[in-house]
Amino acid sequence: MTTYKVGYFVGSLATASINRMLSKALIRMSPPDLEFVEIPIKDLPVYSYDYDADYPAAGRALKDAIASIDAVLFVTPEYNRSIPGGLKNAIDWASRPPGQNSFADKPCAVIGISPGRIGTAIAQQHLRSVLGYLNAPQMNAPEAYINYQPGLITDTGEVADQSTAQFLQRFMNEFRTFITQVLTVLPHER
Ligand SMILES: Cc1cc2nc3c(=O)[nH]c(=O)nc-3n(C[C@H](O)[C@H](O)[C@H](O)COP(=O)(O)O)c2cc1C
Repeated sequence: MTTYKVGYFVGSLATASINRMLSKALIRMSPPDLEFVEIPIKDLPVYSYDYDADYPAAGRALKDAIASIDAVLFVTPEYNRSIPGGLKNAIDWASRPPGQNSFADKPCAVIGISPGRIGTAIAQQHLRSVLGYLNAPQMNAPEAYINYQPGLITDTGEVADQSTAQFLQRFMNEFRTFITQVLTVLPHER
């Protein structure tokens, strides 16, 4: 059995983040051959290309973390109908210096949860556009726009609603299949 290492970004910096709860639920629901490591974003300075000649430790750590994983999972809120600035900043760091885009050929999946009725749909479309530009193969389906209700997910990632739990499990099973497909065509060294 091949085990894949998935790095996940939580797009929220909030301590009570519902997207962090969702990330815990997704890890619980995942097939056993996926391992998870969080890629932290909160200590990154705001990116400027002035850093390109000499990345600071936080920028180097980010790029090393992405180099060491097989696939990327984005679990993100929607802020003002787009992705949060902190997540975009991390993506900008990882995309540079020129010619050293960390996301090239990395299989990705996108998911998010919001109390809003369209459950982060617009943020996800923006993120998909960014990932397309960065040449990251992305899982097209299933799409996952999770609508938050109080009590739906606990801090430790237990999901109260059976149909949501089943959907999250299917999402992660499909992601596992997608990772295998991409890495069969685009094998890489970790
Ligand atoms: C600055 C800001 C902008 C927001 N904009 C949106 C939005 O565009 N769409 C939406 O569904 N929710 C929006 N919300 C509400 C968030 O969905 C809600 O705060 C959610 O808890 C954020 O996820 P998190 O807890 O993981 O940070 C916004 C919240 C903040 C703080």
